[in-house]
Amino acid sequence: MADLNPSAQTLERRRENWGTKLGVILAVSGSAVGLGNFLRFPGLAATHGGGMFMIPYFISLLLLGIPLVWAEWAMGRYGGARGYNSAPGIYSVIWPRPWSRYFGALALMVPIVIYMYYVYIESWCLYYAWSYLRAFVTGNRGVSPGESVEQGAAFFSNYVQDTQNGLPGPAIAMLILVFLLNYVFIYRGVTRGIETFSRYAMPLLVLCALVVLVRVLTLPNILDGLGFMWNPSLPEGQSTWDYLKNAEVWLLAAGQIFFSISVGFGIIINYASYLRRNDDVVLSGMTACATNEFCEVCLGGLITIPVAFIFLGGLPEGLLRSISEGSSLAVGFFALPPVFGLMPLGLLFGALWFFMLSLAAITSSLSMLQPTIAFLEEGMGLGRRAAVALLGLLTAIGCLIAVYFSKNLAALDTMDFWVGSVCIYVLATIQVLMFGWAFGIERARAEIAQGAEMKVPAIFWPVIRYVTPVYLLVIFLFWAKQKFPERIRGIVELDAADRAGVLFPLIYIGLLILFFVIMIALTRQRMDRLRVEEHAREEVVP
Ligand code: ALA
Repeated sequence: MADLNPSAQTLERRRENWGTKLGVILAVSGSAVGLGNFLRFPGLAATHGGGMFMIPYFISLLLLGIPLVWAEWAMGRYGGARGYNSAPGIYSVIWPRPWSRYFGALALMVPIVIYMYYVYIESWCLYYAWSYLRAFVTGNRGVSPGESVEQGAAFFSNYVQDTQNGLPGPAIAMLILVFLLNYVFIYRGVTRGIETFSRYAMPLLVLCALVVLVRVLTLPNILDGLGFMWNPSLPEGQSTWDYLKNAEVWLLAAGQIFFSISVGFGIIINYASYLRRNDDVVLSGMTACATNEFCEVCLGGLITIPVAFIFLGGLPEGLLRSISEGSSLAVGFFALPPVFGLMPLGLLFGALWFFMLSLAAITSSLSMLQPTIAFLEEGMGLGRRAAVALLGLLTAIGCLIAVYFSKNLAALDTMDFWVGSVCIYVLATIQVLMFGWAFGIERARAEIAQGAEMKVPAIFWPVIRYVTPVYLLVIFLFWAKQKFPERIRGIVELDAADRAGVLFPLIYIGLLILFFVIMIALTRQRMDRLRVEEHAREEVVP
């Protein structure tokens, strides 16, 4: 491993700062706004009480989402000022204990494993956009994803080959393209790659979504569709209180907030570490959060389900069941093709919609690579090319596992459950305890206030110290009780061939954690030498 002179490193890494305030807000919003906003949220809300779902949803946003966003932004900037961009380095200064940096293994593994399946779904979006565009331009509707739910399902199944394990040729080709595209931007770095792409992609995706929204809101009977999505709808005989007593809706709402805002992903602390010392974290964090909520509730929530409801005359039972069982894919890839097939100029709007989803997904998947690139560079002393090549290899193996075990999308589902749901809870809990307790509330207050363009409300402090950890813990225990036995039983009951689709991803996730733990141990001394006192850094910053 290269052993660069620390001061030279400091000087070199100092260049990796965000270019502008707008740039960083767009990059963080880009990380947050993704498939979760446009596919996962509308499906969850429509099948869990419609407008009623907004009660647990907004409470989770206020008590979990926003506090965690501020904590991650503040910890990231603090670590960045002390010379670190990677989670192990940042944790080692937030909580100066010999072992605190090892939590970083989780913060490095989580985003790249999510990347491994997320980028695959991203490639489907691009393929769908391409199919619609081709059908629109050539006038050959046969190459579009179908005009009924059955045709849409057959098109999807044929593309990903979810009836048997194996490597689906066309899907692999598109995956390679999207995979390489991500690495091109990552190779260009934080400012020239991520920030530049987000500056164009974010406004463009909002514009595309607004165009589709205007089309949807001018459809006849749109009020019926909006009513289906947003009117509080409780099963016969259930009162509001019965609804609110149900732990499941609280679990789903909290999980959605985490996934959607990208908290507990190890991403925000990495992005915030590229801030300058006096850059604001409070208003910027809020703005990124508000942008995400606008895209989720006002764009995602007004388009996907209402439009499917109008065109399909209600949502088919099988589709409703698969959404409520947590399949975030169902709405986008099954319900919308028939809609675009029937809608006037539907092929064009289909292309626009899936192109918009691809943009939203790329800004999110890019953010999943940067935390580990930062560690490979600063911890292992790799140059950007070597870091990109090594991470490319690690993620390519994971992608192959996600793609190969395609029967019932078993590998993808396993990664999404254990990492995209369980591990983000665990990481969020660790980080909230680190900020509220280990960092010390006085330091936390001073850190948040530094450069702040908005005052955090006084209630934030008791919330982050007591309410958020307790809320997280209670939800997690309920969730574990409800979901774990079912999952374990599911694995045991599978036949040997199907079990491989679950075990391979789990083994790979375990190996990745082990790899990062070993690397963190081996690079300890080097990382310690990289630490700069804040005043030393201020001296070299012009
Ligand atoms: N936050 C990203 C999304 O919503 C991961 O898709």
